[in-house]
Parts: sequence; structure tokens; C-alpha cells
Amino acid sequence: MKSEIKKICCIGAGYVGGPTMAVFAYNCPHIQINVVDINEDRIKSWNNPDLSLLPIYEPGLAAIIKKCRGKNLHFSTDIKKHIQNSDMIFISVNTPTKTKGIGKGKALDLKWIEKSARQISNYAKNNTIVVEKSTLPVRTADTIKKILESVNTKEQNPKIKRKNFTVLSNPEFLAEGSAVDNLQNPDRVLIGGDDDSSIEALKGIYLNWIKNEKILTTNLWSSELSKLTANAFLAQRISSINSISALCEATGADIKEVALAVGMDSRIGNNFISAGPGFGGSCFKKDILNLIYLCDYYGLDKVSKYWQQVIEINNWQRERITNIVVNKLFGTISDKKIAILGFAFKANTNDTRESPAILICKDLIEEGGNLRIYDPKVNSKQIEKDLSCIQNQNNLDKEIGNWKFVNSIEKASEDADGIIILTEWDEFKNINWSKISQKMRKPSWLFDTRLVSNTNEAKLFGIDVWSLGN
Ligand code: NAD
Ligand code: UDX
Repeated sequence: MKSEIKKICCIGAGYVGGPTMAVFAYNCPHIQINVVDINEDRIKSWNNPDLSLLPIYEPGLAAIIKKCRGKNLHFSTDIKKHIQNSDMIFISVNTPTKTKGIGKGKALDLKWIEKSARQISNYAKNNTIVVEKSTLPVRTADTIKKILESVNTKEQNPKIKRKNFTVLSNPEFLAEGSAVDNLQNPDRVLIGGDDDSSIEALKGIYLNWIKNEKILTTNLWSSELSKLTANAFLAQRISSINSISALCEATGADIKEVALAVGMDSRIGNNFISAGPGFGGSCFKKDILNLIYLCDYYGLDKVSKYWQQVIEINNWQRERITNIVVNKLFGTISDKKIAILGFAFKANTNDTRESPAILICKDLIEEGGNLRIYDPKVNSKQIEKDLSCIQNQNNLDKEIGNWKFVNSIEKASEDADGIIILTEWDEFKNINWSKISQKMRKPSWLFDTRLVSNTNEAKLFGIDVWSLGN
């Protein structure tokens, strides 16, 4: 296979494809990169001259797009053309959990992967390197290889010469909200494969900005499995600390102090042990479910049950928060106004996939609460989609409750009985409690599920406070 890559195509212009290729383009001005997608609106947004309207909010991303777009970074719906012209093709399409059929609720749905592989098989030139960027079940590279090579069967391709493909696994470890920094300074780059020159070609791209020592090469299956395992380990830490947060509340210990003390052990480390309303995001739940599915498939019942528990604690944490809010507000929130601060699954992103806010808001509305939701980056349309089937502000049924999007903390707090902080946005750290307390109905409550607000000041202005793990 080739060693020098001049043209790259990335299939999938989402949260991974967009930022990853932007950082590639920024560091490799000598490579032409085309990011393609079937979603025309998404491509239009990537091409929007107004950089505040890019489809994804990531700190630092707009500046890179400004520098590279139209030079060596292009966004297009012409999938065929860009597959045909490329030396290396990244598959960065969505791999959500299956919602029906075999493996429903656990296995990853690989239909978008299969479609991409068929497109590559049909349109790519000979000697193309195909890179799995999406997170995939272990041994998917086998399936991709089979689909790619199907073009070589006589019935499919009577005239054209045989095409050679190699498949590499190059999982992405970026976290949303810090994607640009993670891509620019990764802890490691993982490349799995069995063709040395293809591995060297991909490595050669990363070497433009990443040190050789940080690039780890393994066999295909280790690479695929490492990605699932890394996400499972990270999620497990969050379920571990969240389980202890409940014990802190019961015993008088303080979760922040416990996390600090535990994290100072260098074997444990102090990253990724912040208690909260449960992990969200598009990856953790689906990747652990996939791990569980794989364990079941290979008959590893005990291992499967072990990982299942990480998800169960996560669900429990979210339900627990709703129950606490209702109990503190005298056992009923029917017809009460509640301010929801933060809807994204974490700060510094506009992504709401699997956000704990979705389930908590749905439950509170079902309890009869009237929610006023504010998030600095998530828009009303997205919230409407996430809370679908639930009444909006025009609903007159007082038994069920409703929700309304507002554009400031102040507006959310007007006449509210409670404020719930669900995302750790910076602007929630320095709320002016003197001002906000006057807007709320008394007795007023603050529920801080992210441990970010100045609770002592809130108490000073007469607000009752519940903070997670305290
Ligand atoms: P996404 O849904 O944001 O983007 C995927 C894009 O692929 C969509 O725009 C979709 O229209 C497009 N697409 C699907 N099929 C296509 C086809 N046949 N041709 C062209 N375009 C097609 O998903 P994402 O968050 O970017 O995740 C992509 C993959 O990366 C997943 O496997 C995910 O698990 C993995 N991953 C995600 C993250 C993250 O933080 N979001 C981090 C690491 C890995
Ligand atoms: C995750 C992985 O971190 C990343 O390596 C992988 O590529 C994709 O999945 P992401 O989901 O974007 O990234 O964000 P992450 O920072 O991992 O947060 C996931 C969830 O865990 C968020 O809801 C976050 O609020 C929560 N979290 C994180 C905690 O509750 N406590 C923590 O200490 C860290």
C-alpha cells in the first residue's frame, strides 16, 4: 500500500469527523481533506460563512475552520467523487445501539458502517487504505474487509481489475468540549492493523504534530477492543464515585473531600472522579452495552453482569435526583416552577445525546412541574426534540406539567420554587444569589448536582441548599 498520502476523504461530518479532520487539515497543509456526509443540512452548516452557526460547538474549532476551510479542508455531499479521489478513507459514521432485531438494546447498529463500506468498495480506486474511526465491536474490521472485497467478485465487477484494500483501526479518544485540545495533544494515538506500510502511512500523518512515542501500534482486534475498554473504565469511575455520593449523603461525609483524598493516591489519580447526575454523552452507555453484548455472545456471563452494574448505578443516580427534588419541595411539584440550569450532557458542548437532563426533566414534568430551561449553547429546537411527547408551554393540563425555553438564569428563576444545576457551565459558578433569591418564591431551593455553585452565598440569601454527596 502507499506510503505518501495526498488526499483524504472522511465519511461522516459529525462530532468526530468534523473536528478530527479540521485538526488534521490544520497540521497537514500538504494534504487535501474532504469531509462528506449524506446529511445536506449538516454540510451546509459546516460551510456557513457565519462561524457561530457551525453544526458543532467546540472551543477553538471555529478558528481552525476559518484558517483551513476552502484551502485544504472541504465539506461536501459528493460522496462518490471524494471516495474516488482519495488515497485514504476514514469511516466516521454513527454506530448507535440497535433499537430492534437481534441484539436490540445492546449491540451496535452497523448499518451505516456497512453502507459506507459498500460505497468505498464501489467507488474507491485500487490500493485504498480504509480507516475505522468510528467505535466498533471487536472483529468488525473482518466484516469491513469482506464488504470491500465483494467488488472483486466476477458478477459484481466483470471488467475492472481487482482492487486491493487494507483496513486499519484508529479509534478516536477525544472528549466533547475539549475535542480540539484532545486532538492536538492526545494522550496516545492507537493504530491497529496488519499491513506495515499502511500503518506507516497513517502514522506518517500523525507524526506531523504528535511525537512518535505517543503512537501505539497493535493488532486490529486489540485496537478495536481497547476503545470499548477505555470508555467502560472511564464510565466505571463515574458510577463508582456516584455510588459513594449517596453514601456520603447518608453518613455526613462530603463527596468532594472523599474524591480529593482518594484521588491523591497516584495509583488512582484525581481525574474523572467528579460526582454528578450520571454520565451522559453518545458514547459511554452505548459502548458499555456493546461490551455487555460481546460478553454475552462469548458466554462470559459474570463479566457481562459486572459491566451491567455500571449502567444500573448511572440510571439510579438520575432517578435518585428527581426523587430528592420532589421530596424537598414538600412531596409535590405539581404546578410549581422549577429552573433547570444546563441541558447539555457536559459543559462546553451543544450536544445533548443521553444527557442526564433529558430523563430528569421528563420525570419532573411527569410529576407536574413547570420547567424553565436555560442552557448557554443548547437551543430550544433541540430540547423540544429531546423532550418529545411532552407538552410545551401551551399545555393547559396542570396535572402533567410543562416546559419552556428561556435565555437567561434570571428568567429561569422568576417565581421558581427550585433551581436545579444539571450542567457545570462556567456561568453557573458565579451566580449572583442576592439578585436571584429575590426572584424566587419562598421557601426557595437550590439543587446543585454538579457541585459548582457558591452554595454558602446562596444560603446567606435565604436559599435552602441540597448539593450532591453532601
Ligand atoms: P454523529 O452522529 O455526530 O456523526 C455521524 C455522521 O455520519 C452523521 O452526520 C451522519 O449523517 C453521517 N453518515 C452516516 N452514514 C453515512 C454514509 N453512509 N455516508 C456519509 N455520511 C454518513 O456521530 P459522532 O458523534 O461523530 O460519532 C461517530 C463515531 O465516532 C461513532 O462510532 C462514535 O461512537 C465514535 N466516537 C464518538 C465520540 C464523540 O465524542 N462523539 C468520540 C469518540 C468516538
Ligand atoms: C467520552 C470519553 O471521555 C472519550 O475518551 C471518548 O472518546 C468518547 O466518550 P465524552 O462523552 O465526550 O467523552 O465526554 P466525557 O468528558 O467523557 O464525559 C462523559 C460524561 O461523564 C458527561 O456526562 C460528564 O459530565 C460525566 N462525567 C465526566 C462525570 O460525571 N464526572 C467526571 O468526573 C467526568
